Amino acid sequence: MTDEIKERSEEKSSRERPLLSQEDILEKILEISPIGIIIQDEEGRDVMANSRAEEILGIDRGEITSRTYRADDWDPHDREGNPRRDEDTVAVKVRNTGRPVFGEEVMIPRPDGTHVILSVNATPITREDGSYGGLVYSFEDITQRVNGEKELAQSREHLQELVAVKTAELEEANRRLSSEIEERKMKEKELLITTEQLRKLSQRIETVREEEKARFAARIHDTFEQSLAILKMRIKDLERSLSDEKRQGGELEPIYKTLNYFLDEIQVVSEELRPRILSDAGLMAAIEWQMKDVQKNTGIDTSFHSNIDGLVITEVLSTFIYRVFQEAVSNAVKHAEAFHVETDLLIEEGALTLRIIDDGRGMSREEQTDPESLGLLWMKERAKHFGGNIEIMSREDRGTEITLRVPISSV
Ligand SMILES: Nc1ncnc2c1ncn2[C@@H]1O[C@H](COP(=O)(O)OP(=O)(O)OP(=O)(O)O)[C@@H](O)[C@H]1O
Ligand SMILES: [Mg+2]
Repeated sequence: MTDEIKERSEEKSSRERPLLSQEDILEKILEISPIGIIIQDEEGRDVMANSRAEEILGIDRGEITSRTYRADDWDPHDREGNPRRDEDTVAVKVRNTGRPVFGEEVMIPRPDGTHVILSVNATPITREDGSYGGLVYSFEDITQRVNGEKELAQSREHLQELVAVKTAELEEANRRLSSEIEERKMKEKELLITTEQLRKLSQRIETVREEEKARFAARIHDTFEQSLAILKMRIKDLERSLSDEKRQGGELEPIYKTLNYFLDEIQVVSEELRPRILSDAGLMAAIEWQMKDVQKNTGIDTSFHSNIDGLVITEVLSTFIYRVFQEAVSNAVKHAEAFHVETDLLIEEGALTLRIIDDGRGMSREEQTDPESLGLLWMKERAKHFGGNIEIMSREDRGTEITLRVPISSV
């Protein structure tokens, strides 16, 4: 054989010879496997383990192969820490059923005092004659995943508790708020009742005062005025019996003067107490007369229109309308610097309407709402008693218009 032929035949024989034995290949695969693998013989002794198994379990393979599946050191528990019963161990399950198991979760202690949780698959090794020849375990370390899940569950639980606490707090706050609102509503109601009562009281006082004034006026008229008239007549009789000399001397003149003064004063007082003209001639005539009187005394031009002839108005209401009229006209005279004042007493759109219009300087909003000025306030308040209202329209230098409206139904 030449060298060349020798070389070729050596090359050929090395190609035919396997590089490694099957056993070596298996060992290599086991060593690079990212999964822990342990092989157990038919008697339950661990006979082989890879590096990943050592790593996961925290013991070397010498220690692993010194144990059977029943060894106390395994001390298997489930992920919650409950001990696994003997018949539940993976080895027993596989041996008894002759079938593989998958994803069994087992917690195992490690020599360093920590625990590792494994997800274990195991498959039986069956001999050619069908008998049980041991098993192969493969397992992963799922400690982190399980702990993560536990933490997640805990934080979810915590979150739920937190939500429950917050919900309870909110509900409590809501309850408090509702009861506060309820309380406030009650107070508002009470306040409303009190305001309403106050208004009624003031109305009552007003009515009583008007009635008293009317009684007083009647009394003054009936007794004082009449007595003075009788006194005047008696003095006249007396005068006749006097001598001509005395009569012409005018000795009784001062007495007559005093008497007439008293009669005039009584007229004024009873007029103020209750406008007699109101009871004697009615509302329309009373206003007309007063308007003329204003023109006579102040020089302000006045006019009056009315279409309520024949309308019957209660005494209290007609006194009120007359007082509003007096207040508005006296305001026009006092404050407006007006040339003309007009009063209308009309039935307008279902309401008895009193309107006083002047062409004066007008009034500002501040003047209208000045708490010191009671005239306007009084008429506004009082109007409500009759179910009516007061409207004030006023512009600077454009005069003022005051309107009282009382529904005909309240007349
Ligand atoms: N017709 C008017 N023209 C211009 N200003 C007016 C007129 N009526 C009222 N005012 C102004 O509005 C204010 C309020 O009037 P209100 O009648 O309420 O009070 P008052 O007349 O000042 O006092 P009171 O009537 O209590 O005696 C007046 O002080 C005046 O400044
Ligand atoms: Mg006034």
